[in-house]
Amino acid sequence: GIDPNFERNSERTGEEHGVDVWGPVEPPETLGIRGTHVAVDFDICLADGACLEDCPVDVFDWVDTPGHPESDRKANPTDEDQCIDCMLCVDVCPVDAIDVDPG
Ligand code: SF4
Ligand code: F3S
Repeated sequence: GIDPNFERNSERTGEEHGVDVWGPVEPPETLGIRGTHVAVDFDICLADGACLEDCPVDVFDWVDTPGHPESDRKANPTDEDQCIDCMLCVDVCPVDAIDVDPG
């Protein structure tokens, strides 16, 4: 699953689709972690979609990631500022790709 200490263990390399990008990033195979309060490890996400369906405040959007070995689209936490820390997405993701830090 996603490293819950990614903010300490990786570097912020920039921003894409409105959220922080945490490296290493080497597209299309390696995409890193996206978002900070709501963080999705794009290299683990396999486009299950449960997070998009279940988030009560629609934090996530699909973004296309052609050429990534796990899936050709990912759940981007575009509206992470709207998150109400319900933790549903963390619970439903089958591969533990999401970390929400209510701190
Ligand atoms: Fe949405 Fe709840 Fe996940 Fe926040 S913790 S992104 S509100 S499902
Ligand atoms: Fe991806 Fe998990 Fe959502 S696999 S689409 S982050 S439920």
